[in-house]
Amino acid sequence: MISDLRSDPAQRAGAVLTIDLGAVVANWRSLRDRVAPAECAAVVKANAYGLGVARVVPALAAAGCRTFVVAQFEEALAVRAVAPDARILCLGGLPAGTAPDFTANRILPVLNHLGDIAAWQAHARAQGAALPAVVHIDTGMNRLGLGPDELDTLAGDLARLEWVDVRVWMTHLACAEADSPMNGRQLEDFRAAVARLPAAERSFANSSGIFHGPAAHFDLVRPGCALYGVNPTPATANPMRGTIRLDARVLQVRNVDNAMTVGYGATHRVEARGKIATIAVGYADGYLRSLSGRGHVFVDGVAAPVVGRISMDLVTVDISHLPDGAVTPGGLVELIGPNRPVDTVADEGGTIGYEILTSLGARYHRVYRDPPPPEVA
Ligand SMILES: Cc1ncc(COP(=O)(O)O)c(C=O)c1O
Repeated sequence: MISDLRSDPAQRAGAVLTIDLGAVVANWRSLRDRVAPAECAAVVKANAYGLGVARVVPALAAAGCRTFVVAQFEEALAVRAVAPDARILCLGGLPAGTAPDFTANRILPVLNHLGDIAAWQAHARAQGAALPAVVHIDTGMNRLGLGPDELDTLAGDLARLEWVDVRVWMTHLACAEADSPMNGRQLEDFRAAVARLPAAERSFANSSGIFHGPAAHFDLVRPGCALYGVNPTPATANPMRGTIRLDARVLQVRNVDNAMTVGYGATHRVEARGKIATIAVGYADGYLRSLSGRGHVFVDGVAAPVVGRISMDLVTVDISHLPDGAVTPGGLVELIGPNRPVDTVADEGGTIGYEILTSLGARYHRVYRDPPPPEVA
């Protein structure tokens, strides 16, 4: 049994993750306005890209978002639990035996191949009613969705769609760059595919696709990363607002002399007298080991380099250039935030913002900032 705790959980935690739901909502609104009259959904798979589905979904639903997209059935249930009226699309197809659970919870399966379509048809026929679903047409990812041969089979035998109430035909873009020749090919193939099929909503663009121009918007767009502040326009400045801030606690500050090394493997050698701060975050928190010797934290807006290897729970930072007293045990330093956007941390770690977000640690103390109340007219 745990005794009564009297201390502040934020004080006990190694790091504090602040999530600005107002920024998430502002990002969604700006995308919604950009694509209107198309509908703007929100992709909230992987726990809303690490930000927390239980808080992100209600905030977006209150702002007017009606459609949410997840990858797996359990994620769809987590959305349903907090958004009773939302339309929920589940990208991962129709695992065997799950069709009744989709129907009972009003979750739309995204049918990815002819086998999925046949299984949904059989389920609907057994219910005696056409049942709603989404169908994914592959136009170049070669990952999920009906390939060209399956599309030919379906378009040549529309009886396969009897009892299947297709609400949305969707495809997914391979390239984020607006000038990739792949985009035009996928657009053409998608247009040609839906022209062979019964009318329904069409959905083409993810976050980056939204910035490829109105031809990519169709009826429904599916942004994920842009909602959470990752740059959807890799070649130009980020049009989205940052949504998270990660501050981690200083555990110890120590003087080091030349000829000393720092951390596992003794990979960092101190070249002159200096100061090292040890911070309570590590790769177990999603602060990637690949940031070893490459990342930066910020102290009152001044960068301090990560030195030595990142370990499971600790990061060591060279603060020799900072005045005495600038960093003290118990204080916080910025790892992600206005000085270090998610995309910059990702670049330093040799990855993408998506991975930084979806790796955000379970040990962080989370603080949610609610969106401002709606203005009364
Ligand atoms: C099918 C599908 N649609 C939309 C998205 C959202 O993509 P993004 O986060 O790039 O906006 C994803 C994410 O991987 C996806 O798999």
